[in-house]
Amino acid sequence: MTPKRSIFVTSALPYANGPIHLGHMLEHIQSDIFVRYLRAKGDDVIYVCADDCHGTPVMLKAAAQNITPEQLIEQVGIEHKADFDGFFISYDNYHKTHCNENNELSCDIYKKLYDKGYIVTKTISQLYDPVKNMFLPDRFVKGTCPKCGAADQYGDNCEVCSATYNPTDLKDAYSTVSGAKPILKDSLHYFFDLPKFNDFLQSYIKDVLPQEMSNKLQEWFDQGLKQWDISRDAPYFGFKIPNTEDKYFYVWLDAPVGYFASLKNYCAKHNIDFDSYIKKDSDKLMYHFIGKDILYFHSLFWPATLKGADYRLPNKIFVHGYVTVNGAKMSKSKGTFIQAKTYLKHLKPECLRYYFASKLNSQAVDLDLSLDDFMAKVNSDIVGKIVNLASRTASFITKKFDGILADKALDDNMMEDILSIKQIVLDAYENRNYQEVIKQVLALADKANRFVDNNAPWVIAKQEGQEQKLQMICTQALNYFKAIITYLSPVLPKLSEDSAEFLNTELSFDNLDKPLFKHKINKFKPLFARIEKEQIEAMIADSKQDLQQAKAQNTVQETKTSEYEPLASEITIDDFAKLDLRVATIIEAKQVEGAKKLLQLTLDLGFEQRQVFAGIKEAYKDEQSLVGRQVICVANLKPRQMKFGLSSGMVMAAGPGGSEIFLLNVDSGAKNGMRVH
Ligand code: 2FM
Ligand code: ZN
Repeated sequence: MTPKRSIFVTSALPYANGPIHLGHMLEHIQSDIFVRYLRAKGDDVIYVCADDCHGTPVMLKAAAQNITPEQLIEQVGIEHKADFDGFFISYDNYHKTHCNENNELSCDIYKKLYDKGYIVTKTISQLYDPVKNMFLPDRFVKGTCPKCGAADQYGDNCEVCSATYNPTDLKDAYSTVSGAKPILKDSLHYFFDLPKFNDFLQSYIKDVLPQEMSNKLQEWFDQGLKQWDISRDAPYFGFKIPNTEDKYFYVWLDAPVGYFASLKNYCAKHNIDFDSYIKKDSDKLMYHFIGKDILYFHSLFWPATLKGADYRLPNKIFVHGYVTVNGAKMSKSKGTFIQAKTYLKHLKPECLRYYFASKLNSQAVDLDLSLDDFMAKVNSDIVGKIVNLASRTASFITKKFDGILADKALDDNMMEDILSIKQIVLDAYENRNYQEVIKQVLALADKANRFVDNNAPWVIAKQEGQEQKLQMICTQALNYFKAIITYLSPVLPKLSEDSAEFLNTELSFDNLDKPLFKHKINKFKPLFARIEKEQIEAMIADSKQDLQQAKAQNTVQETKTSEYEPLASEITIDDFAKLDLRVATIIEAKQVEGAKKLLQLTLDLGFEQRQVFAGIKEAYKDEQSLVGRQVICVANLKPRQMKFGLSSGMVMAAGPGGSEIFLLNVDSGAKNGMRVH
């Protein structure tokens, strides 16, 4: 027997800014099947995941919904967890990257890298939204493709001609956050010195990835590794970088650390020695399941930061391809993806688990969810070949033998049939070659069905004196069923649980060589229903509706973020009455030495004159044009001592700031000092 292993297994952490869809589910199902196999085999496994919470998209999405990022990630976390539970994904812990454990671990890794000289700083120039006062990630800049002229293309690549470019190459670029034209602005950034790890990484990826993949990745090294920009400027939803005023870790710096954070959170709850899992010489194994799109982060940045900070390294990185539906790419922007919760409204989770398993092997190839094939396969394999074995034999045992199985099978070769595939199936699970598992198990099911067909228990049942034969035929069929379900238990956990209840026994790999003889089973109840075409059609119709809803929501969000600030909370007329707004004339306007945004205004309120510092300099470059203009002044605002003098009130203006500020006018005839109601 192979010794028991301690293994820490993760799936990639889903972003907290959107729903789980079937593309995600491929990975979580793939890792869950593996983990269930390991547990069934007796290994000691900790299986974790978390929501990936940081970054600009989460920050902007929360702002658009007029909630805090913390509120958003809380809400999304609950939804994600429900989706994974719905598909029987058996995480030991589902955490979030925005947590104390992650902050501490990320800062610790960073500080160690800093102390060892692996962090360098450089000033870089980036596109900046002058209205929202924020640097713009590439996907928040759009414009006309510099190659083909297609309008409304993202800052890094064109969806029409597939050209890749820098956001600064876009023509007529605009910020998707405010609609403003971005400007170039300098900022100091922190970089991780990845090239220093070149030799280590080149040999490391050979250990953690299959040879074909690591050979292919040689091109990264041929092109030369680049220093990795790990800082982002405020405003940013993330962790502050130690010893900086306003720099934040780029989301990808702390995201994989989230694996450790979730583990730490779990260990604390279960009194497990966390350090033994993450220390440099840990004897525990660490396996990551990821999609091929994030291979660069997991096989270069993540191991290099761990190595630099003297932590343990991942032992294996298992990479899968993308999911397509009916042969076409799933695309958020095109809305061709099916959300996990929409699927679950119409179909059993195990149908998808089975279908994905039947197509998964250890290669990172793309997997097509062809819905007709999906329905045909589930109906033919699970219902037609597997469950049918039990449904067409169990009733004879119940009705004619009081639920008691015979003391032996009809044929002597039953156990050999069952056990001859055991090692092949276990090895296939170990290699994540679930396609092979299904192939082996279906071959056994075919053999079992041929046995039932050849012995036709429904005919034997009608023959006098053939009771014992009938009991042995049905006993053999049900023992085949038991073995098949046991082999498939990592793939079909619920069917396995229900079958164990029906067979009145525990289904485990260890029990494969223990046939059920002279054993009482329970009455058979339907275990698995066929998929009907209407269910698929309803799911598709619902997904289209999800898309419409998402579009409507995005339109509202885009409008909100680009043009309108969210509405402030409701006030009463009494609240409003507290504001004393007065008509006033600007009688003097002056530049303020040393102030970037302020103009110094003297206002005539009729009954007195006031000095006010107003942040309108960028919008009113010719300050003298303001002199003589009537404005509205918030006259009962508590005077504020500023660096440049006392400001007694405020002039009212609309607009987001910067050059987009518009002072309010009053119609002619209004007199200074009049109150605004
Ligand atoms: O690509 C993604 O969806 C990322 N949120 C995955 C992060 S995995 C890990 F590094 F946190
Ligand atoms: Zn183009």
